[in-house]
Amino acid sequence: MRDIKDISVLITGGGSGIGEGTARLFAARGARVTITGRRKDKIEAVAQSIGTACRAVVGDVTVNRDREAMLAAAVEHGGKLDVLVSNAANMYRQAIGEYTEDFLKEAFNTNVISGMMLSSMALPLLEKTQGAIIFLGSIHNRRAYPGASPYATTKAAVEGLTRVMAAELGRRQIRVCCVLPGAVSTEINLRAGLFTAEQSDARYASIAPDHALARIGTVTEIAEAIEYLVRAEWVTGVALEVDGGLGLGVSNF
Ligand SMILES: NC(=O)c1ccc[n+]([C@@H]2O[C@H](COP(=O)([O-])OP(=O)(O)OC[C@H]3O[C@@H](n4cnc5c(N)ncnc54)[C@H](OP(=O)(O)O)[C@@H]3O)[C@@H](O)[C@H]2O)c1
Repeated sequence: MRDIKDISVLITGGGSGIGEGTARLFAARGARVTITGRRKDKIEAVAQSIGTACRAVVGDVTVNRDREAMLAAAVEHGGKLDVLVSNAANMYRQAIGEYTEDFLKEAFNTNVISGMMLSSMALPLLEKTQGAIIFLGSIHNRRAYPGASPYATTKAAVEGLTRVMAAELGRRQIRVCCVLPGAVSTEINLRAGLFTAEQSDARYASIAPDHALARIGTVTEIAEAIEYLVRAEWVTGVALEVDGGLGLGVSNF
């Protein structure tokens, strides 16, 4: 297994949720972590609480000059780039029959194209370190939730992308993997303006029994899976379900 002490990791969307949990875990393991997000206060608060191992750089993954700045900041902070965790994404729900083109374009631009572009731009850096790219897919790739087709299709695209990227970049010793989390309580639905905090809590509670393990997950449990994929040097192209058994479709029929 690869030693992750002193590696340089860039995590998009590191100011909250799974990205924040991943930043905390990698910093605790001795990595140099650079986190990004659009809200300065969020990422700076996370970086400050982690300490000198973590640097915050404000940026929007949909903007090319911001992507350049994120990569440059990670190299400045960590001296190189070993790992890109392409985590930043938003929840996009819209009923079929009510689709609007701008909404769908924004969903794919943020959740898919930005990660493709950032990966493409990071290749020269990752080639030098025989590095890895980790994408965040979703259990929406295994379970169908009515109303969530825009989000689900972006996450399905990310899983397909993982396989082709892994095949295309393997000879350059760059590994590409994807984690498919089950339900983890974060602010993703709140940021999308879909639910109040109380409604969001109630939804997470109501989905707990759908998991074989009868509970939702934690950001640390997703971060630990990302750590495994970064360390496992003969693993590439996989979509790892880290979902408490939600994808099994457990039924008491
Ligand atoms: N929570 C779950 O149950 C779950 C399940 C399956 C998969 N996932 C996936 O896990 C990943 C993390 O989500 P999360 O649940 O941790 O949600 P979250 O707390 O809302 O984190 C997403 C982060 O992405 C950032 N972001 C969004 N758009 C961005 C942009 N254009 N540029 C830069 N940063 C941007 C947000 O910060 P700013 O708004 O400040 O930019 C936010 O900090 C996502 O890919 C999500 O699809 C989550």
